[in-house]
Amino acid sequence: MKQFLIPLFILYFASSNARAEQNYSGNSVLDCTINDQNGPSSAFLYTCNGLGKSCSTFLIFQSQPPYNTITSISNLTSSDPEKLATVNNVSMFTVFPTGKEVIVPVNCYCKTKDYYQADTNYTLPTIQTYFTIANNTFEGLSTCNSLLRFNPYGALDLLVGMQLHVPLRCACPTQSQIESGTKYLLTYPVDWGDSVSSLAARFKVSSSSVLEANVITTPALYPFTTLLIPLPGEPDSSTTIVHSGQPPTFSPPVPPTKKSKKAKTKLSVAVGTTGGFLLVVCVILFSVFLMRKRSAATFVEACKVRKTKSSEDIRDEIAGIEHFSKEYRFEEIKEATENFSSKNRIGGSVYKGLFGKDILAVKKMSSDASKEVNMLKKINHFNVIKLQGYCKNDEGFFYLVFEYMENGSLREWLEKNIPMEHESWDKRIQIALDIANGLQYLHNFTEPCYVHKDINTSNILLNEDARAKIANFRLAEESEGDNITCTSQVVGTRGYMAPEYLEAGLVSPKMDVYAFGVVLLELITGKVSIIVQAGTEVMLSAVIGSVMAKDDAEANLSSFIDPSLVGSSGEACAFELAKISVACLIREPARRPSMADIVSSLLRIQRNVPPRISPTMNSNSQRMGR
Ligand SMILES: *[C@@H]1O[C@H](CO)[C@@H](O)[C@H](O)[C@H]1NC(C)=O
Ligand SMILES: *[C@@H]1O[C@H](CO)[C@@H](O)[C@H](O)[C@H]1NC(C)=O
Ligand SMILES: *[C@@H]1O[C@H](CO)[C@@H](O)[C@H](O)[C@H]1NC(C)=O
Ligand SMILES: *[C@@H]1O[C@H](CO)[C@@H](O)[C@H](O)[C@H]1NC(C)=O
Ligand SMILES: *[C@@H]1O[C@H](CO)[C@@H](O)[C@H](O)[C@H]1NC(C)=O
Repeated sequence: MKQFLIPLFILYFASSNARAEQNYSGNSVLDCTINDQNGPSSAFLYTCNGLGKSCSTFLIFQSQPPYNTITSISNLTSSDPEKLATVNNVSMFTVFPTGKEVIVPVNCYCKTKDYYQADTNYTLPTIQTYFTIANNTFEGLSTCNSLLRFNPYGALDLLVGMQLHVPLRCACPTQSQIESGTKYLLTYPVDWGDSVSSLAARFKVSSSSVLEANVITTPALYPFTTLLIPLPGEPDSSTTIVHSGQPPTFSPPVPPTKKSKKAKTKLSVAVGTTGGFLLVVCVILFSVFLMRKRSAATFVEACKVRKTKSSEDIRDEIAGIEHFSKEYRFEEIKEATENFSSKNRIGGSVYKGLFGKDILAVKKMSSDASKEVNMLKKINHFNVIKLQGYCKNDEGFFYLVFEYMENGSLREWLEKNIPMEHESWDKRIQIALDIANGLQYLHNFTEPCYVHKDINTSNILLNEDARAKIANFRLAEESEGDNITCTSQVVGTRGYMAPEYLEAGLVSPKMDVYAFGVVLLELITGKVSIIVQAGTEVMLSAVIGSVMAKDDAEANLSSFIDPSLVGSSGEACAFELAKISVACLIREPARRPSMADIVSSLLRIQRNVPPRISPTMNSNSQRMGR
């Protein structure tokens, strides 16, 4: 995978902090949940530390249809079209080839005390997320964190036609830069194959001045992040080039090859076991996949590198790559569970066991669980059930030993109906956040990344404080970012399976997003995923979906709210959660939000719900407030 990272050989010599002016963001811009409460963060914009509080400056934007003419680019960036044409030495009617670097003159200023920005407005032509606006449309010239900050809409409330305020990354030179002859700091979005030395050579400046302008602490430059190039005068149109948009090809493209082999294997499995429709769909998708190989590689990389730069919360959780899991002797398991005595049975083939002083849960499995064991050993997150150990006995049974979850499954908890427990909305929001955080971790921060494939309220377990953890990884599958793979065996839980999976066996992280949408509805309504209405079975998601599609949805939704929640003034909260759920349940997987989008929306909702004062809540918020 190294070939996708752009080497930066002279990096570590020259990052002299004394003169370093702006921090390079690295891949922190991929994480849309970063906060900057303890000072400016490069995951937002450049810090307002120049001599001037405003300046005129320049950005580089790569022409990409529909933004490939003077008018469309000036419209997108709110740049003066005449100046734009002049500085690029072209006429007003030029159509730029795709990938051509276009110099964009903008006004940069400190709007808040923390950050520089160049303002523009963007009207949403299609449904997008803040991340795709920042990364795909603006090519990294803006960031999802700053978009979230400057717009009143939640991450999931974006609709076609909405006008968004887009702050573009820019900066004005500092005193010392001006003294050493710098007039402008050009904002340059890094592309495949760029290195500090190649950029310095192209823009005719020294590598050391580039390194001084950007504190680079990552071992590589990442595409769709920005660097500042200090220039002694206006940028020269003769230095701009046309990019091929391809990752460098000087070393063998290992991840795509591996991936296509895997896809081929899967394909042949599909050929062997099913015919007709499924095969056709898979073949079509497979060809689409081949055409999109390049972006596949991007995603693989994104998945991998995101792990190194993540929000603090998650960074805290990633303790070790492979945590310790004990291999138990069968005698120990038998003793702990009192020979699987029925009084220790928790449910199904799960038993409570006393191991020394610790109560743990033992799950007996008749199938080969080595895949699950190997996977769980590598996973270490507060919101994913922890495998403490395992055992394989002579008869070929596997016994997995997990942390014990006092409150059982979320399904049981919702049915228990203990008023005190159920009263508070923030407990439910916390559970939703716990699940979302666990899924976000599985989708983005593990190596390899995983799709759980069987998210439902029985596979979410609650500990004594009702904090949720994801369990049962029997069906989990490796995933490579948002790529779709095909499977011929459609297995899962009724009521939770995404349409593309049910109908065509397509597997991607978005199927977990769909199932999460159903779990959210259960949290709001207390009902199960398939309910009986007028003698027929209907999907809870269909019922709430039609409620939400009507005018007056908020009022109508109130009759579906879990009765044990009514009275705690949670109608607005239920409505906000239901909106997230509706977005998760969108039919087309690509239009569903990512778990990161969902986490940021839930955090927003959580902030607006004042915690109820009850003894259990108090202890909970103390534990969480670190
Ligand atoms: C760069 O990052 C460091 C460490 O996070 C921080 O102390 C410093 O203020 C940042 N500098 C700028 C210009 O943002
Ligand atoms: C950009 O184009 C859109 C749609 O064509 C238009 O509504 C908007 O006013 C234009 N913005 C500017 C700044 O010209
Ligand atoms: C602008 O382009 C013309 C031809 O297209 C060329 O002759 C001229 O030298 C260019 N000027 C600059 C400043 O690059
Ligand atoms: C963006 O829109 C707002 C409100 O419609 C307007 O006040 C502002 O001038 C616009 N900004 C730019 C750069 O066009
Ligand atoms: C960012 O945008 C580029 C260009 O559209 C795309 O190729 C890339 O996959 C995007 N990155 C992520 C992480 O989605």
